[in-house]
Amino acid sequence: MSQNTSTSNDSRPDLDDSINVSFAHSSAAVTSAAARENRNPGTGGEPLSIATFALCAVMLIIAGSVLGNSEGTLFRYGTTIKPDYVRGKPPGMADEVALPPKPMLAVYVKKGQALYSAKCNGCHGADGKGDGVNYPSLAGSSWATGPSERFAQVVINGLQGPTSTGKVFGAGVMPAQGGGMSPQDLAFLLTFVRNSFGNSVGDVITPEMAKAAVDISAKRAKAGSAVTAEELKEHEKELPGDKADPNIMIDPISLKPVAAKK
Ligand code: HEC
Repeated sequence: MSQNTSTSNDSRPDLDDSINVSFAHSSAAVTSAAARENRNPGTGGEPLSIATFALCAVMLIIAGSVLGNSEGTLFRYGTTIKPDYVRGKPPGMADEVALPPKPMLAVYVKKGQALYSAKCNGCHGADGKGDGVNYPSLAGSSWATGPSERFAQVVINGLQGPTSTGKVFGAGVMPAQGGGMSPQDLAFLLTFVRNSFGNSVGDVITPEMAKAAVDISAKRAKAGSAVTAEELKEHEKELPGDKADPNIMIDPISLKPVAAKK
């Protein structure tokens, strides 16, 4: 490569002529000085100073307490929420706004279903048919559909086989199910089993009858242990207590009888 490239004959322009290096340097120095000393106008997205923020907070608190205590209506909820306000009835609506009454049996079966799902499903199955090996069927079981006192004692105390068919199932013993169940729950549950899976006893076990069953269970000689087929012979009767008319119309929430509509 030739070292002699910057002769005046060279076809390229002389760099010294086209760029005044010292001028270029001095103007660059001016721009950077300006950049140092003039504030950057910013983009508007910089965070608020903490002092401004605190000032706003103080002003809001003062303003709020002044407005809130004044006689003005800005924060007076009393003017929009009236203390004894009762919503007016829509035109044409009856006086008592209640769910439509249903026959007692239907209400008890419906409520009992939820309890069955929680307590018995796991062993006896959603269809109540058990599995034929470890758990017996409740569909068509003579103990489920027979005298209510016997059935209630099985459910409350559990059962040490043999079962109603004389068969002992694989699991061997059914654990007691009465714990944590109120007489009302027990009444729902027993009524459900007696009137589901094809069982159609058609009776309602009332809370009064269920309460009697709990009392009978507490007085058992072997209280706390599962009942056996032998012991169940003593309980082959209906639970004491007034029978309820399964077709009486009751309020599904309060469970109280509802006078028939005229
Ligand atoms: C942990 C499993 C299990 C649960 C939960 C269970 N059972 Fe049982 N149940 C059994 C077993 C096992 C037998 C049979 C006992 C035996 O063979 O010794 C049985 C037997 C019965 C029988 C006797 C059936 C007959 O015809 O002899 C009835 C009635 C019954 N159960 C009702 C219920 C009800 C109602 C519930 C729910 C509240 C329930 N069981 C919850 C396991 C269970």
